[in-house]
Amino acid sequence: MSTIATDERIPNNVDLSHDKRLQRALEKWQPAYLDWWRSVGPQVFSENDVYLRTAISTEPGGWANFDYVKMPDYRWGIFLADPEPGRVIPGGDHAGKPVWQEVPGEYRNVLKRIIVVQADTEPASVEQQRWLAATAPSLYDARNLFQVNVEEGRHLWAMVYLLHAYFGRDGRDEADELLARRAGDPDKPRILDAFNQPCEDWLTFHCFTCFTDRDGKFQLGALAESAFDPLSRTCRFMLTEEAHHLFVGETGMERIIRRAAQLQRTAPEGDVRGVGGIDLPTIQKYVNYWFSYCLDLFGSEVSTNAADYFASGLKGRWREAKDYTEHGALHQTRRVDYVEGDKIVGHDVALRNAMNEVLRADYAEDCERVVARWNKALEEEGVSERIHLPHNRFHRRQGIYSEHRFDPQGNLISQAEWDRMADVWLPTDADRAYVKSLMKPVLEPGKFANYIAAPKRGIHGQPVEFEYVRTDG
Ligand SMILES: [Fe+2]
Ligand SMILES: [Fe+2]
Repeated sequence: MSTIATDERIPNNVDLSHDKRLQRALEKWQPAYLDWWRSVGPQVFSENDVYLRTAISTEPGGWANFDYVKMPDYRWGIFLADPEPGRVIPGGDHAGKPVWQEVPGEYRNVLKRIIVVQADTEPASVEQQRWLAATAPSLYDARNLFQVNVEEGRHLWAMVYLLHAYFGRDGRDEADELLARRAGDPDKPRILDAFNQPCEDWLTFHCFTCFTDRDGKFQLGALAESAFDPLSRTCRFMLTEEAHHLFVGETGMERIIRRAAQLQRTAPEGDVRGVGGIDLPTIQKYVNYWFSYCLDLFGSEVSTNAADYFASGLKGRWREAKDYTEHGALHQTRRVDYVEGDKIVGHDVALRNAMNEVLRADYAEDCERVVARWNKALEEEGVSERIHLPHNRFHRRQGIYSEHRFDPQGNLISQAEWDRMADVWLPTDADRAYVKSLMKPVLEPGKFANYIAAPKRGIHGQPVEFEYVRTDG
């Protein structure tokens, strides 16, 4: 168990006080981070008491403290999961050899790039969501948004620590750049497209935390299998926090879906919009949009980069060490479907070249599990409609399917057919305007906006009607 220093300017379990140079560098970055937080972090209730959890250790079960805190006073710290004694490289050409405690020179640039791309997503989502609390459907939801936000901030700290500690001068420059890029800024955008999309309504927020944070879960999972041990330990602890973000998205969607079903049963002629709810067809469109968008985040179906990352041990497969017995992934293939003329034809691709596809499939399976829970809620509410994930070829903007059109079942269709159906499958401007029109704040403890059901229980044993955000300051 590592020693935790919680009374230092930067709480940490990396023995920061024994590396004065590193400590000074990070303490210099800290005020820049706080400036960033104040200018593009949460802009609503930004100085109010919020009931938040703060990481104070890395022990399973006892790692978090729950209390009221004003967000700018949040104690963002650097926490790595405890080292696993005798850990060996999980996969690739060096599988079975001891893990690296320093960055090997030959992988320095590529490893730095991997860390920067991951790091860039963390502040991006905070920026995208900075005005969202102005329309919070409840204090409970506002608190969950802020919890996600402060922890994405901590994830930035986690990645910046790695850049500062292991990549010298250019690592520090990259850490500065992470505070300079802005989600959606045409001149200095965030690196990945999904992190430049605006997030201005709570259906989008819950889709984002359900589908995009889940992409994060799988990317962090692949990095948790890295041969570079500090990265692995960093990501393992981030995954602990990430679980709550996924809970927020999954249950948030479930509550909107449940409410849609309830309103559908009780509204005159089942007109959910007529009584101010979000109807199931609209929810399905948002699911189609966000799931397909997030599939793009996994990269090309066939990728020599992905093969190189795996071979060198920089990334592993999801649960590489635990779930696989053969860690070379050589002399094996994976079937990938290509479009040839007007047909879809499967080809066997060397497994290492298909590692993005392997991770994407694990992600999709996880999403299917979530959708099954939503459908259980629909069943409980006594309606016959169900939510479905679209096929992985639907609405792709990157990779081998992006040049063609597919329906949500994955069938190849013509451009004309796509043009005829796109408004049925994806949110239209009118849908977005309608959803936005419902976004009015509900700030009385225990009350919820009409389009979302109350949660089954509150946070950390508190009742649902607990004052999760003190609106009087
Ligand atoms: Fe994160
Ligand atoms: Fe997250």
